[in-house]
Amino acid sequence: MAVEVLVGTQWGDEGKGKLIDVLTRDVDMVVRFQGGTNAGHTVEIGRDKYILHLVPSGIFRPGVTCVIGNGVVVDPVALKAEMEELAARGLDVSVIELSSKSQLIFQYHKELDALKETASAAGRKIGTTKRGIGPAYADKANRIGIRGAELQQPEKLERLFREQAAAYNKLFAQAGAPELDTDAEWLKVKAAADYLAPFVKDTVLSVNRAIREGKKILCEGAQGMWLDIDHGTYPFVTSSNTTAGGACTGAGIAPRHIGTVWGVMKAYTTRVGEGPFPTELSGAAGEKLRQAGGEFGATTGRPRRCGWFDAVASRYSCMVNGVDKLAITKLDVLDALPELKLCTAYDIGGEITADMPASTDLLAAARPVYETMPGWNCPTTGIHTWAELPENARKYLQRIAELVEAEIAIVSVGPEREQTFCV
Ligand code: GDP
Ligand code: IMO
Ligand code: MG
Repeated sequence: MAVEVLVGTQWGDEGKGKLIDVLTRDVDMVVRFQGGTNAGHTVEIGRDKYILHLVPSGIFRPGVTCVIGNGVVVDPVALKAEMEELAARGLDVSVIELSSKSQLIFQYHKELDALKETASAAGRKIGTTKRGIGPAYADKANRIGIRGAELQQPEKLERLFREQAAAYNKLFAQAGAPELDTDAEWLKVKAAADYLAPFVKDTVLSVNRAIREGKKILCEGAQGMWLDIDHGTYPFVTSSNTTAGGACTGAGIAPRHIGTVWGVMKAYTTRVGEGPFPTELSGAAGEKLRQAGGEFGATTGRPRRCGWFDAVASRYSCMVNGVDKLAITKLDVLDALPELKLCTAYDIGGEITADMPASTDLLAAARPVYETMPGWNCPTTGIHTWAELPENARKYLQRIAELVEAEIAIVSVGPEREQTFCV
């Protein structure tokens, strides 16, 4: 049985957590393959609402193995807290496996992340989540990172941690920033290591064993296409490959095992943080979408920037990810709008193009060319079939599918598990 991969096709927060929860009804294993606590994946089950940062969103289905893969950057203190909270809410966290090859995030990474953001000039700020993601991936590439395996070797972990903390403290001192209290930080790390050590293993072996046994595996992407370090709106991106290919390197799965790629796509567009966003709506129109969609960051609480659906960016995204099946989310958020706009091309300095420009600067200069469609002006949240959808909603979705050149397989009309139907 082929491995399925689910990714965000826009700027993150498309509803990946919800979709993973829906799709894991008949899945044996869910694998996170990149990112870290910058992710905030919301799952609503009845009256219970959960926001997951590192734990895979398969945790709500009993018996599903939840793997945090080698491509993930793991804040051990945050992971311990997240697992303890889930356990306190009655969930079985013994199904979690943490890759011995994952990279660890410590307080000094978070401090540096925040320091860099504060020190950056206007126009250079990325608007990161300040969770230490960039500095941790930089340490990985610099080959000075500390890995999951070290959680099982407390003495080595302490030595490496203190060496790194001292080096970072020198940097902080040079920048005139307060130094970290290494002893106090170590105590937190030690407690996290004691808690997490039993969960650490070579998850590449478990994932490939599951593949051999014909188990059904779903890889859970974090962030979204336009935050990908290679393909996104660089430098306004995260520091990992958020696209489908990342599942191979970030989980240790050979390309030939990958089957269906699910692309989660909001029926409009949002972005948190800095960087170009051609279809962004400012003022009252943007605020209306933000309120209707509850568009505030699940991790940082920041208001998300909102705008119309961008078919130019989304088609490119479906191409890079090789999306087989689309899950369109938050259709209900558009219920009350009299008319909707779809961006079908960009006007860049008077030249009209339906292709993504080659550089982030050109994208920043792009003015959207819109096609207008009538709204449906009635609630869709209670709808459970394609046939029941108002005709204008069906037409809107069909037009999206046509423009992005992918098939719609699932429509989501509310945050809960049940507010979802297959097409
Ligand atoms: P993720 O990061 O991709 O998992 O998405 P987030 O959890 O950050 O943001 C998606 C938000 O939209 C969450 O608050 C979800 O509960 C909510 N949500 C997901 N699908 C729908 C939907 O179809 N309709 C509405 N109204 N909310 C949804
Ligand atoms: P999920 O998985 C939306 C954004 C940040 C910032 C940029 C870099 O919930 O969709 P980072 O902290 O990664 O160095 O920040 O990426 N960002 C996200 N935006 N959803 C996310 O995750 C994000 N994770 C990071 O706002 O612009
Ligand atoms: Mg999110």
